[in-house]
Amino acid sequence: MDVKITQLVKDYAKFRALESVSLNIGSGMFGLLGPNGAGKTTLMKIITTLLRPTSGQVVVNGWDVMLDPHPIRQNLGYLPQEFGFYKGLNAYELLDYVGTMKNLTRSERREQVERVLEQVNLTKDAKRKVGKFSGGMKQRLGIAQALMGNPTLLVVDEPTAGLDPEERIRFRNLLARISGQRTVILSTHIVADIEAVCNQVAVLNRGSLIFTGAPADLITRASGNVWEIEIAPAEYERIEEQYTIISSRAADHRMVLRLIAPENPFGRGTAIKPGLEDGYVAVMVTTKAVAYA
Ligand SMILES: Nc1ncnc2c1ncn2[C@@H]1O[C@H](COP(=O)(O)OP(=O)(O)O)[C@@H](O)[C@H]1O
Ligand SMILES: [Mg+2]
Repeated sequence: MDVKITQLVKDYAKFRALESVSLNIGSGMFGLLGPNGAGKTTLMKIITTLLRPTSGQVVVNGWDVMLDPHPIRQNLGYLPQEFGFYKGLNAYELLDYVGTMKNLTRSERREQVERVLEQVNLTKDAKRKVGKFSGGMKQRLGIAQALMGNPTLLVVDEPTAGLDPEERIRFRNLLARISGQRTVILSTHIVADIEAVCNQVAVLNRGSLIFTGAPADLITRASGNVWEIEIAPAEYERIEEQYTIISSRAADHRMVLRLIAPENPFGRGTAIKPGLEDGYVAVMVTTKAVAYA
């Protein structure tokens, strides 16, 4: 299943949420990374045919989202950012209901509900009310409902927001396990979510794509520009004005900063091997100036 996006524009009244986005997504796990307000949810709603583009084209497996939404919907599983639950239902009933919405027969539903519960490791919680589920269980159930109908395209919008670190890791591994032959599009503002599981990444900022490629390519964007420098706390403000600080930690009465700089800061820095977070920050910093009206 591939998704081809060409010069996509989305305006909400006078506000431009997506500015000429062009992107090809193939099978495997695709990570859509960007800060809040970047346009991730808008892009996902267009791919899932819930929102109409202002201009440009989105073609899913040969079907245009505007001209041919029905076959796309039949092959799609979607976990929205805000996933509402019927809190009074138990997990089995909720999945059975979703199966009805997806036009599955009674026997297909029985077989698939049991299979997806197994896949997300909720079999033993099938009879519990979903209103009583923990954050991690809710997100796993969210994936289970998206898997009903056995879709070839899975779109998951910020699924790890609100999960604790342990739940987040388990959830990522679950996504990697179910991806298989599918195309999975995962949006997040958390770099580590992408690092672990995605083979392709796009970075969206203020409606524009500022990077597309493999995670390793994003890392190289920060090559030679990541430094560690030890400073006196009083120097912090001056350095913050000049450079992008990625992290800081206190050491006795000194501070150690990790920062992005085109040259060795004050000749006092030590060059550091970049990671994915550094690459992300580096592309965000270098494209900050190209805002549109
Ligand atoms: N229905 C809407 N009407 C007007 N502006 C919207 C609407 N939905 C989103 N926006 C704006 O579009 C921008 C992108 O939003 P969104 O796609 O939700 O970003 P993200 O998911 O990356 O946080 C934001 O500035 C948001 O305020
Ligand atoms: Mg969003």
